[in-house]
Amino acid sequence: MGSAGITATDVEMTFVSRTGTRANVLQNLSLDVAPGSFVTLLGPSGCGKSTLLKILGGILEPTSGEVLIGGVPAREAVRQRQIGLVLQRPALLPWKTARQNVMLLHEIARNSKKSAASAADLALETVGLTHAANRLPHELSGGMAQRVSIARALAMEPSILLMDEPFGALDAITRDTMNEHLANIWEATGKTIIFVTHSISEALYLSDTIHVMGANPGRVIDSLDIELARPRDERVVGGLEHAAHAARLRDELHPRTEKAA
Ligand SMILES: Nc1ncnc2c1ncn2[C@@H]1O[C@H](COP(=O)(O)OP(=O)(O)O)[C@@H](O)[C@H]1O
Ligand SMILES: [Mg+2]
Repeated sequence: MGSAGITATDVEMTFVSRTGTRANVLQNLSLDVAPGSFVTLLGPSGCGKSTLLKILGGILEPTSGEVLIGGVPAREAVRQRQIGLVLQRPALLPWKTARQNVMLLHEIARNSKKSAASAADLALETVGLTHAANRLPHELSGGMAQRVSIARALAMEPSILLMDEPFGALDAITRDTMNEHLANIWEATGKTIIFVTHSISEALYLSDTIHVMGANPGRVIDSLDIELARPRDERVVGGLEHAAHAARLRDELHPRTEKAA
């Protein structure tokens, strides 16, 4: 499967607790994601990023509004296995090797062992882990384990990849390396990627477009197209354009509190 576009129109999400309290978590949220693009949702903790990602991924039904993936409703896209999901924790089965973990979704889908194995080998190659295929999860570093979970999602050949703070649990140096890997994986596969983070530098390193989210209720407060050259090496990151974007994003994420005179 190639890559698909995503459109979300007027998505609203209100959670109602058992006692009847209503929390309006997302309001009036619309997005238009071009096939093959790398789009980041950047916002503070609690602003509704994970909720939005679950709605885009067909895991949660919005209170109102519509999500289309490649022109079909998100639920249908899930049924067609168009959606690959990568979460903060890699969630690998500890008694299975990296390769067996990557084959897992194929096994659940009852695909043939042969197609599962060839998809797994290709996906492991894409994330640069062919050499570690037979290791058990405890023999992998945190970054490698997360690359296995990316390979597991890719092995199903989804048309979009949704990633919820996938490197949030890793140390800063590993995280930089993982971002380089991910930029390469994106270029090699041409997948549409929606990536959630609260890191400005990570968003600027990876994205074609950054949607900045604000809280209470969760909504998009700004959208920036990032036209920095790739790869985004030190020269790009040290440049003026990068600095200008970073300053704008910092202002939006950490608005200075106005003091009364
Ligand atoms: N199932 C749920 N029921 C009630 N409230 C929820 C539920 N899921 C998330 N929330 C609330 O929605 C808000 C946004 O959560 P979340 O989407 O996880 O934010 P983020 O990923 O940006 O940190 C939070 O206030 C959270 O408590
Ligand atoms: Mg979250």
